[in-house]
Amino acid sequence: MSARIIDGKAIAADIRQEAAEAVRTLVAAGGPRPGLATVLVGEDPASRVYVGSKQRACEELGIESFGHHLPTTASQAEVEDLVCSLNADQRVHGILVQLPLPAGLDEERVLNSISLEKDVDGFHPLNIGRLAQKGRDPLFIPCTPHGALVLLERSGATLRGANAVVLGRSNIVGMPMALLLVRNDATVTICHSRTSDLPAVIRQADILVAAVGRPEMVRGDWVKPGAYVIDVGINRVEDATRPKGCRLVGDVAFEEVKEVAGAITPVPGGVGPMTIAMLMHGTVEAAKRTAISN
Ligand code: GUN
Repeated sequence: MSARIIDGKAIAADIRQEAAEAVRTLVAAGGPRPGLATVLVGEDPASRVYVGSKQRACEELGIESFGHHLPTTASQAEVEDLVCSLNADQRVHGILVQLPLPAGLDEERVLNSISLEKDVDGFHPLNIGRLAQKGRDPLFIPCTPHGALVLLERSGATLRGANAVVLGRSNIVGMPMALLLVRNDATVTICHSRTSDLPAVIRQADILVAAVGRPEMVRGDWVKPGAYVIDVGINRVEDATRPKGCRLVGDVAFEEVKEVAGAITPVPGGVGPMTIAMLMHGTVEAAKRTAISN
């Protein structure tokens, strides 16, 4: 039987609509208009596209967008000074420094310089630390794993007691995803390039999150029948039949796995749209908190 397709585009549209409604309510009550500052350093084409999409989403939802673009040659001090000025700017409720930064810049120091209250990406070590600790709550959760969790929740997955396997251990997706699943009472295994007998480990998963960046790596016979499969991968592969000569595929061999899984996210149209939706949600939450604390 073919798996249910989890429609990330539709769920992301719902989250964006909820965020837009929350902006209207906040402003109508005399609160601040939420503001998001994006910091792009250098000319990485993919990063430019991502930042552009984030700015457009802000405009669509009534969130103010403050775009900052520094050259590839920007120094550590220039990037940190910009973050520092955004920390002090009352119109800015969220600060997003697009990663990766150009070689030579110290990512950890830049992320450390973002005010905890404006860390909408949730990458500040204190927010990640709180995510990892029992009884503590981060102010923000990294957007892509947060989006993946919302897809699981809104498509009816039971997390408590489930065997969850996360394929990949990146700072941006894999590791925070594993922490989020543990917080939701799943039993979590993290797999990576050194895991032995990967298919056997993945076959135990009631919930599989693939975030490894290897096109169509997870095959149909690796997946437990009925499992929830969340594919975070976005990989460009050559395809001479397409006008552009390429197409996007995930980390999961979709056509094979959909015949085994119970529910699966497509690529594109699965996790991808959720990242920006959760960023918008986080920015509105940040603005709401300043309204409460003032
Ligand atoms: N690069 C890839 N994903 C992300 C993300 O979620 N946030 C930021 N800031 N950079 C990224």
